[in-house]
Amino acid sequence: MKRLALITLLGFALPAFADRMPLPANTPASFKAECASCHLAYPPALLAAKDWQRTMAGLKDHFGTDATVDAKTAQEITAFLERNAGNSDRLGSAGEPPRITQTARFIRKHREVSAKTWSDPRVKSAANCEACHRGAANGSFSEREITLPSGLK
Ligand code: HEC
Ligand code: HEC
Repeated sequence: MKRLALITLLGFALPAFADRMPLPANTPASFKAECASCHLAYPPALLAAKDWQRTMAGLKDHFGTDATVDAKTAQEITAFLERNAGNSDRLGSAGEPPRITQTARFIRKHREVSAKTWSDPRVKSAANCEACHRGAANGSFSEREITLPSGLK
């Protein structure tokens, strides 16, 4: 009985994909400065440590852009991402280059989103979380804070 309660507690304490994922209080300023200018500062829990390592190792050719940072900053950001990464078994493979939006978990959570919605110019890309999650910048992905661009479902 005790053990079951503990497992339940841990299940809540370590969600692989909860709907609230605010950045930890000790997030280095460099992460927000370097990784949130072109897109959302993605919650670290949405990729596994090995996928963050690959992302950080490939910044020179980062989805068609150069997102390189100096060595010291790279080290600081990588360590932060590793510390707060998600569980790879629960997320599933992220592909190459790693994408949050390619993980099995992401695909499963979004299976009700229609093809028409994904291809709408107001959405642009599945990576553009804020197109639908209006609380994304605050780490909220709760259903109550989802608004699809008008006319879509
Ligand atoms: C110069 C602009 C730029 C900077 C700076 C940048 N990125 Fe990106 N990032 C992109 C683009 C463009 C994409 C592809 C977006 C798309 O497919 O719509 C991307 C995609 C990603 C993805 C995959 C999103 C998905 O599809 O799941 C991750 C993860 C990511 N970036 C992490 C980072 C990290 C970590 C940093 C900081 C070290 C960073 N990015 C800095 C431009 C940038
Ligand atoms: C086209 C709109 C759209 C985009 C873009 C989008 N989402 Fe979602 N997301 C949804 C919808 C709709 C749901 C709710 C699905 C449901 O409840 O059946 C959802 C659900 C989720 C959930 C599950 C929340 C819960 O209650 O368990 C998470 C986490 C999430 N999205 C994260 C993201 C992240 C991170 C991004 C960007 C990398 C993203 N989403 C991009 C529409 C979107």
